[in-house]
Amino acid sequence: MIVYDRPVTDIIRTRRSWRSYRNEPLNDGERAHIQSFLYSLDCPPFGSAVRFVLADAQGGAPGKVRGTYGIVTGAPSFLVGVLRPSEGGYEDFGYLFEAAVLHITSLGLGTCWLGGTFDRGYFADVADPGEGEVIPAVSPVGHAAPRRSLVDSVFALTAGSRSRRPFSTLFFRNDFSTPLQEPDAGPYGTALEMVRLAPSATNRQPWRVVMRDGALHFYLVRTIGYSSLFKGIDLQRIDMGIAMFHFQRTIQEQGHGGAWRIADPGIRGLPFMGEYVVSWIP
Ligand SMILES: Cc1cc2nc3c(=O)[nH]c(=O)nc-3n(C[C@H](O)[C@H](O)[C@H](O)COP(=O)(O)O)c2cc1C
Repeated sequence: MIVYDRPVTDIIRTRRSWRSYRNEPLNDGERAHIQSFLYSLDCPPFGSAVRFVLADAQGGAPGKVRGTYGIVTGAPSFLVGVLRPSEGGYEDFGYLFEAAVLHITSLGLGTCWLGGTFDRGYFADVADPGEGEVIPAVSPVGHAAPRRSLVDSVFALTAGSRSRRPFSTLFFRNDFSTPLQEPDAGPYGTALEMVRLAPSATNRQPWRVVMRDGALHFYLVRTIGYSSLFKGIDLQRIDMGIAMFHFQRTIQEQGHGGAWRIADPGIRGLPFMGEYVVSWIP
């Protein structure tokens, strides 16, 4: 199991996307902590090949860092994720990259998932992907600036980053017609709340979960009018993987067992653009 030095629920509640950083390199201890965490990562749920590179940032215009179109300022380092796409690959990528993001958060450092606004050519030079590998996302890593830059504030505001949909619009009992309230979710209440707090591309929150016969069935409900395929990368499947990690890590911390399985319960009346992804079977 992936180990953090404090409850994962605290780390999830602390994490925010940061695009403005103090111009200050990571110290050797921070760098070593991150590297050893990256080496220790478990195999993800669908067994995909994911690897990470922790790279130094390079300067662009004053204060800006290269490869982010001026959106990220002052970051000393980047986490670059590389995936060999396969069945479940984007979910696996989201799962492992978020595990790393939460570890970096637990060290008191800032991060920001970047799946769209980064220069793939520049980061390809940094991470040197092999034939058939892609770079689905990167994140700045560093000490957050005391105040967000104007660009950072505008991004956070337009994505509505502080808000999340209500619990009962994301989670259901038996089928999609019966909303689930947190007190009725039994041992899964906190883990589902951690899904609700997860980051997602443009804060679209495409995850839905149906609790039925003791199992939890995870669905992706794609956003109407929003192409989550960004240069061929399926950002909303990455969102699903992030949600899976928050759920599993919280459930495990609470001492409950279970495993991911493909076990589509064949629930009728799926929301428009909804598709089954995976189930958590206790
Ligand atoms: C898969 C993914 C891709 C993202 N891509 C970008 C991006 O390209 N640029 C950006 O500024 N933020 C990006 N974000 C950050 C989201 O906008 C942010 O997570 C969301 O608004 C919620 O805010 P929070 O992370 O502060 O909770 C991305 C997040 C995820 C999960």
